[in-house]
Amino acid sequence: MLDPAREGTPTPMTDRPPLLPATARRSPALAGHVGLPGDRSISHRALLLGGLASGETRISGLFEGDDVLYSAKAMRAFGARIDKAGGEWFVRGLGNGCLLEPEGVLDFGNSGTGARLAMGLAGVYDMTTWFRGDASLSRRPMGRVLDPLRLMGVQVESTPGDRLPLTLRGPKTAAPIAYRVPVPSAQVKSAVLLAGLNAPGVTTVIEPVPTRDHTEKMLRVFGAGVEIETDAGGLRHIRVEGQGRLTGQSVAVPGDPSAAAFVVVAALIVPGSDVVVENVLINPTRNGLFDTLLEMGASIEMSNRRSSGGEDVADLRVRASQLRGVTVPPERAPSMIDEHPVLAVAAAFAEGETLMQGLAESPPRESDRLALVAAGLRANGVDCEDGKDWLLVRGSPEGRGLGGKTVETGLDHRIAMSFLVMGLAAESAITVDDTGMISASFPQFVELMRGLGAEIE
Ligand code: S3P
Repeated sequence: MLDPAREGTPTPMTDRPPLLPATARRSPALAGHVGLPGDRSISHRALLLGGLASGETRISGLFEGDDVLYSAKAMRAFGARIDKAGGEWFVRGLGNGCLLEPEGVLDFGNSGTGARLAMGLAGVYDMTTWFRGDASLSRRPMGRVLDPLRLMGVQVESTPGDRLPLTLRGPKTAAPIAYRVPVPSAQVKSAVLLAGLNAPGVTTVIEPVPTRDHTEKMLRVFGAGVEIETDAGGLRHIRVEGQGRLTGQSVAVPGDPSAAAFVVVAALIVPGSDVVVENVLINPTRNGLFDTLLEMGASIEMSNRRSSGGEDVADLRVRASQLRGVTVPPERAPSMIDEHPVLAVAAAFAEGETLMQGLAESPPRESDRLALVAAGLRANGVDCEDGKDWLLVRGSPEGRGLGGKTVETGLDHRIAMSFLVMGLAAESAITVDDTGMISASFPQFVELMRGLGAEIE
């Protein structure tokens, strides 16, 4: 047996490579066509379900950043065979209910999605599984996933406050539950649905506010019995039939709209820009940023809309636009949960005020995101106010008076990319203190932006 106290400590900060600062300056018009990395959420799910399903799953367009590779490593530890050949990934799964006890601690690095989904997938098995992550992930709350797993019979030994590192010990037979998610979270919903796959009977997740729906969509594609119904009160009930057969599939992962967000906002705020972003996932549970930008007067044209692996994709042509401030309703927050930093940057260049609401979910992410965004904006001359769950930005058209300072990113890749985008249109250059962690979601970001004409060094 492993000693979790010894093996389960977080990846120490000293393992981190030295900081890699970068500076973005006011750039000429951005122009060109770009493709994006595959969607991270769909990539994690394709590996998890592929590793679980019987037979072979073939994945094209997998996002190959650090986060998703931790999920591949975890699935190998559960016994799946995962190989890459000719640009595609081939996963030989075990069959639903057949995961093996991993021999070592599962390390998820900085990946909250990988860790939380894997806890659901494997926690209910009659075995012991150890989880750990890096220093940042070890500060993030895991109780939101552990609480429903406890109801299903899982024993948890965790660091105080339900943090990583932690150990899960599943029951002989997991109890199917009906669980109303207390906070809008696709990770919690997904963890419960994945746990339900290994419980007899029907497991139900009740969602008051819809969140990204890739798990339920992909579960259906793999053959799971899934029923979705919205009741008279607007609650979404997602039911999964446990212990059914899952069969390997071909999955083409669409381009990540959360990565597209940075390119789209850059093209909108750098005067004269005209950029086409190809093969972007179009899904109402993910497109809150694009909806908001359109309301702000953005020129974003969608073309070549098509279906790919159960999801819709399209090409987006984006032209520089004078944006106008808007009020973003709180109920839109879940469909743009990762896009608030870059929307705040767009708002900094808009005419008038933009009020972003419903941001209560921001703090427990990679960083205290809302506070860091407000601090970075203020340091760079943006007039803004922030509260517990809202941010108000008063814009400065053409970026007059903006920029000139260094931004603290707090290990948050989205903050780093957002402020580099801001530097491309601000009057003075903007430096971010680190870019190393950008590889978590968009490793080619700096090169891709330079290819469009962005001045980032
Ligand atoms: C994700 C869900 C979201 C999101 C994360 C990816 C997913 O987190 O922020 O980047 O793939 O399920 P929450 O479930 O905490 O909202």
